[in-house]
Amino acid sequence: MLNTIAFLHCPRHLTIDQPRSKITKVEICIHRDCKRRGGGQKLKSVFEELADGTGIEVGEYDCFDECPFGPNVRTLEGPDDQFGRVLNGVKGKAQIAKILGVEPPEEP
Ligand code: FES
Repeated sequence: MLNTIAFLHCPRHLTIDQPRSKITKVEICIHRDCKRRGGGQKLKSVFEELADGTGIEVGEYDCFDECPFGPNVRTLEGPDDQFGRVLNGVKGKAQIAKILGVEPPEEP
């Protein structure tokens, strides 16, 4: 149970009752179809911003072969996770925060 609950001294984005994400790495598709749908470097920047302080690595990948459903992102849970999970239609800070298991940023 201690491994699944975030406490106050954990990374600043986590709330006290929010389950800690098991995700250790996210890979953003940087190929052209996902880029056209709002993915690529722009999406990667948002992931980097929201993952700051969590220890989650943010990387790139060149096409998951799920192009019509992009922007696509793959989440990986630890070094033994060879396949991960591809998430389709990833857009917006609120959704990205949910994926990372962090508090969504306040909108201005
Ligand atoms: S272009 Fe992103 S999955 Fe193919």
